[in-house]
Amino acid sequence: MEILKIAIQKSGRLSEKSLELIKEAGISFNNGSRNLVSRASNFPVELLFLRDDDIPQYVTDNVADIGIVGENVVLEKTCKVKIVEKLGFAKCKMSLAIPKSIEFTGSEFFDGKKIATSYPKILSKYLKKNNIKAEIHEISGSVEIAPGIGLADGIFDIVSSGSTLISNRLKEVEVVLNSEAVMIANPQINEAKKQILDKLLFRINSVRTANKNKYILLNAPNKNLEAIINVIPGMKSPTIMPLAEEGWSSVHSVLSEKEFWEVIDQLKELGAQGILVIPIEKMIV
Ligand code: PRP
Ligand code: ZN
Repeated sequence: MEILKIAIQKSGRLSEKSLELIKEAGISFNNGSRNLVSRASNFPVELLFLRDDDIPQYVTDNVADIGIVGENVVLEKTCKVKIVEKLGFAKCKMSLAIPKSIEFTGSEFFDGKKIATSYPKILSKYLKKNNIKAEIHEISGSVEIAPGIGLADGIFDIVSSGSTLISNRLKEVEVVLNSEAVMIANPQINEAKKQILDKLLFRINSVRTANKNKYILLNAPNKNLEAIINVIPGMKSPTIMPLAEEGWSSVHSVLSEKEFWEVIDQLKELGAQGILVIPIEKMIV
């Protein structure tokens, strides 16, 4: 029987969320997750824990069939992999930053300057496009200390919370692109593996849709029932049940988290009471 091999980051910004996503899809592992390879007990997949920077290459070389990695890494590695799904977590920016004390005059500031980065390909593409003639100094880690030790005038790196910049007295001056975790696949995986991938994607999307939505229950005075239903239309239409108390109904529906904050005041104005909002575990639409 075919097994789909999934590469995920061993330790770093993506690792915990990647594993969580797979576990929420109902896939379990017996032997913990700290081994290099871990076989699922109830789904035909195997996890490989690798350095994120190596994942696009391993997927290209068929060591893994698919992988979860930052879009930034995929763009930098220019491997023959296909992005099959954006996963919506580990969002970050890829930005140019310079010492806080130095005045930024616009992107021509970088003309004739030295920029330290672990992402030379993405950076050189950006510089070329904007006709900036800067020197790229490639280093593999701790890029943020380069200006402080006189190695470069600025840096090009990932900015997530921004705390790395702050603690190194740097300021973000240009956002070059936005990145998030993506699922990549070898474009040549066979039909059997493709079917496993489709099943996995279906499960992942059910979990993600569920996380974005809430189950809402409330008590509504019958005279405003119609107006309340219009405010919370639900997946198909809301469930209405009479309350023991005359003139009142219980309304059950599904709302996105975002919609909820938009409609809550309206619901209260329409006399809704006892509003409960409950998380949904899985959602098939
Ligand atoms: C990035 C980057 C910074 C940090 C920025 O590293 O190199 O060090 O995250 O995050 P912050 O804005 O929240 O402080 P990453 O996690 O991608 O590690 P890696 O380059 O070793 O894979
Ligand atoms: Zn890395």
